[in-house]
Amino acid sequence: MENIIIRGGESLSGQIPISGAKNSALPLMATTLLTKENITLRNVPALDDIISMRDLLKGLGSEVLGDLKKGGAELTLNTNSIKDTEAPYELVRKMRASVLVLGPLLARCGHARVSLPGGCAIGNRPVDIHLSGLEQMGVSIDLKGGYIDATIAGNRRLKGARIAFPMVSVGATENLLMAATLAQGETELINAAREPEIIDLANCLISMGAKIQGHGTDTILISGVEALNGAEHRVISDRIEIGTYAIAACITGGQIDLLGADGTFLRAVFDTLRASGAEIDENNWGLRIIGPKGKPKAIDIMTDPYPGFPTDLQAQMMAYMTRVSGASMITETIFENRFMHVPELRRMGADINVHNSTALVRGVSNLKGAPVMATDLRASVSLVLAGLAADGVTEISRIYHLDRGYEDLVGKLVGCGAHIKRI
Ligand code: EPZ
Repeated sequence: MENIIIRGGESLSGQIPISGAKNSALPLMATTLLTKENITLRNVPALDDIISMRDLLKGLGSEVLGDLKKGGAELTLNTNSIKDTEAPYELVRKMRASVLVLGPLLARCGHARVSLPGGCAIGNRPVDIHLSGLEQMGVSIDLKGGYIDATIAGNRRLKGARIAFPMVSVGATENLLMAATLAQGETELINAAREPEIIDLANCLISMGAKIQGHGTDTILISGVEALNGAEHRVISDRIEIGTYAIAACITGGQIDLLGADGTFLRAVFDTLRASGAEIDENNWGLRIIGPKGKPKAIDIMTDPYPGFPTDLQAQMMAYMTRVSGASMITETIFENRFMHVPELRRMGADINVHNSTALVRGVSNLKGAPVMATDLRASVSLVLAGLAADGVTEISRIYHLDRGYEDLVGKLVGCGAHIKRI
């Protein structure tokens, strides 16, 4: 099992190239199930989750060409025929986004058997909203043995429906958006997620011949078509990676140029960082982040679906707020257990008190390096950020979580002068 060792205290300075968005590439890969023609994706990040999705799709009958190299891979996917419609537990357990093959498989061949994902560190994360939407499109769902057995009666086509989501769900919006492209008639998704990754997916589906309007708003209209063609599509840059490295510049009081970064999708995050004392310049080559000199100002955060403050940057922001003058209140509204990083940050000397879904972070003079443990993807990277700022040495175990969502994290940070290595 590898660990990461960090000797903190350096102000980072340098350039970091930003990779393609994991949470866009994953649903984009699933679109191959919707057509017999080639889907070519560019700027795909080299991550373990992408490998998991590739393996899952291959098991279903997809051919996936292209090597996952750092700096943006090009993958060409082709699913000329579906040879299996089962997404097995051992794959789904590793990566919840596997459930995104459910809608496309039903649209393509009328049935699917997908393992229930099971919970994960940040919450029980059910898929009930995905399933009730599919039932409204004519799918009969049978849950047995930990699996979702989904079939369309009489093996007919999915039928368009007016689906109002009881709460905003990124995955449910993606699953039903893909399913609706080949359904019979019109589908209306109400209270749909507005994340940039939804817009990216819809743009790719439209280039495949899908008829979609309203993507990026809370109401998406889809008119089903008989068949979809192939497409070529470039994955958008990863806004969570951008936010993570912007906070790295802030927490170390350094200056980092994020190459290829686009600030369009990070207004809420950048307003918060600027309020804390950071300077953020948007240029045609990317973003320049200049961290505050001296102590950052305390800012209160409440996570919210897009365009609010993203839950995937809550842990990173908390690490940053441990050094403020005053106190910051951080409220997590999306997941019920996304404070796993708190006890680890406390081991480093942070002063954090949690009541239900709110954490009160009182600023301390500085964190102290310590051995800590990663629990989930974003909690892991918040410990890296804390280690970069802390006095002394921090050793982080279970860093396989990081490899799921951050391409070449150690290499990118070493490039900015960080004393960090994997052992
Ligand atoms: C996506 O997860 C992202 N993952 C998550 O990023 C992200 O945190 C999340 O959206 C919210 O933005 C990918 O895109 C692969 P949801 P998803 O459905 O789709 C509840 C990361 O670190 N819910 O929007 O699973 C759910 O439990 C990951 O990159 C139901 O109750 O999130 C949660 O409390 C972590 N029933 C809330 O809705 C359902 O059927 C939001 O979940 C579906 C969701």
